[in-house]
Amino acid sequence: MAHIHIPKGWELPESDVTPESVFMNRREFLKAAGFLGAAGMALTACAPGESQVLEHRPEVNLTPLEKTLYPAKRNVRYKIDSKVSPESLAANYNNFYEFSEIKDDVAHHARALPTRGWTLEVEGLVNKPQTFTMDDLLKLAPLEERFYHLRCVEAWAMVVPWTGFPLKALLDRVEPKNEATYVEFVSFYMPFSAQGQLAFWQPWPYTEALTVKEAMNELTLMATGIYGHPLPKQHGAPIRLVVPWKYGFKSIKSVAKIRLTDYGPPTFWNSVLPAEYGFVANVNPNVPHPRWAQTKEKMLGSSEIRYTQMYNGYGDFVGGLYT
Ligand code: MTE
Repeated sequence: MAHIHIPKGWELPESDVTPESVFMNRREFLKAAGFLGAAGMALTACAPGESQVLEHRPEVNLTPLEKTLYPAKRNVRYKIDSKVSPESLAANYNNFYEFSEIKDDVAHHARALPTRGWTLEVEGLVNKPQTFTMDDLLKLAPLEERFYHLRCVEAWAMVVPWTGFPLKALLDRVEPKNEATYVEFVSFYMPFSAQGQLAFWQPWPYTEALTVKEAMNELTLMATGIYGHPLPKQHGAPIRLVVPWKYGFKSIKSVAKIRLTDYGPPTFWNSVLPAEYGFVANVNPNVPHPRWAQTKEKMLGSSEIRYTQMYNGYGDFVGGLYT
């Protein structure tokens, strides 16, 4: 029978957290262990996912600005009660339907996403609409590392070390008007690079939305990095949303536009399958799902099965939003 872990609080001994140096030195380790040939030929003999991570590590090609920013200092206010999930697992088990419906194929196909020269346009009900370059965004607020629980509606979970800044810092810069009540997020539309977008019957580009209050919550993060380096493409490079108290599909990847509105905008999965994917989509073990039981979750990379917590355990931060 599966082991059930009931969390007793947000405590994790620092010794349980895999140190950054372990993530950063895997290539050196594999080399020393003889897995990488002199000319890198042995890479092709690795499992496909493993070789992709090693060959396409974004930290290898950091811009001069990024070199000064990564790895960012961890903000210990956000505690976790599990180990950080291994990077090799998180980087090869992705939902990114623009590229593939098969999780371990995403990293390979997402390499086609052109991210150079990326801009993020913020428009709608704001006093100062603006288009930001990635350098603008990286300088907007101090980058910090936060360890967050990620809970997918498919009943699996991970603990991920994101790097980013609070969405509030970006919204403050554009000054939302008083009548703005929702924030819409729009990803890219590039069907020639993203084969999934050739499915013309689906409402591409991928969109998501939050209320302005949710967007301004301190937990809501714009992530530019993960595991101490810039985001690899399969995780939503160059910038994505992270909303840890909601199911993973709300955390939209590769955000190209943000629009402030006075109505609840349609969102991708809610439009495709409204009976399965709600608009609010707070993690809630008491709301059943037609396909996946929501009372428990499988921690990826371990045999641990946990009871799912209301708001994914972040009730102290967000419970007040829903009273
Ligand atoms: N964003 C876009 N643009 N396209 C997607 O298919 N999938 C979502 C979310 N963001 C998705 C997306 C889902 S279902 C999940 S669980 C998370 O991304 C997974 O993030 P990860 O692959 O970085 O772990």
